[in-house]
Amino acid sequence: MDLLKQRILKEASVLTSDVLRLDALLNHQVDPELTMEMGKEFARLFAEEHVTKIITVESSGIPVAFTTAQEMKVPLVFARRKKTLIADPDSYMERVPSFTKGIVTDIMVSKQFLKPEDRVLFIDDIIANGDAARGLIKIIERSGATLVGMGVVIEKSFQVGARTLREQGIRVESLVRVASLDNGEIRFE
Ligand code: G4P
Ligand code: NA
Ligand code: NA
Repeated sequence: MDLLKQRILKEASVLTSDVLRLDALLNHQVDPELTMEMGKEFARLFAEEHVTKIITVESSGIPVAFTTAQEMKVPLVFARRKKTLIADPDSYMERVPSFTKGIVTDIMVSKQFLKPEDRVLFIDDIIANGDAARGLIKIIERSGATLVGMGVVIEKSFQVGARTLREQGIRVESLVRVASLDNGEIRFE
């Protein structure tokens, strides 16, 4: 998506050689029109997949998952991050480490919202090492639903997340691929 590349060059900044600051576009402020365009693109890419549900993890994946769901006319489910000590028999739970925050969190989806007959499209804002993604994919697998693929706004292709998922046979589509952030410069693939 050329429009998105231009916006990233204008509004994102390089925090370190592996972290891109995206507050202006994804993590703090959201542009509805741009986010609608992202949703349209994901809907187009996965149009043939008979998707019944969009899934993401709170919080930054929600806006683009919402516009994709709106475009595909299906519900959006967002996995919640829970601080709880007791396992809930009515939900799927996975523990995931967070790359930027350096902590582990539990993500959970109620069994009510993910059924074996579902064909699920996973949408997320950024893929880095893919730890959060792997946690949610495990939940989808445990539910018996079919994962038709993953759509990510920004793939940092110098980190292993997207590549690892593709090697597992998962279709991963990204709107923009960042090849490196070296020397304070954003280089696209
Ligand atoms: P992931 O690749 O599956 O996202 O997992 P990873 O553990 O690598 O990343 C964990 C979190 O860090 C994710 O947010 C992800 O979006 C964020 N992140 C990774 N790299 C970058 C980066 O270069 N820039 C920014 N701005 N964020 C990055 P999260 O913990 O799921 O939190 P939230 O933003 O959804 O609340
Ligand atoms: Na994030
Ligand atoms: Na996210």
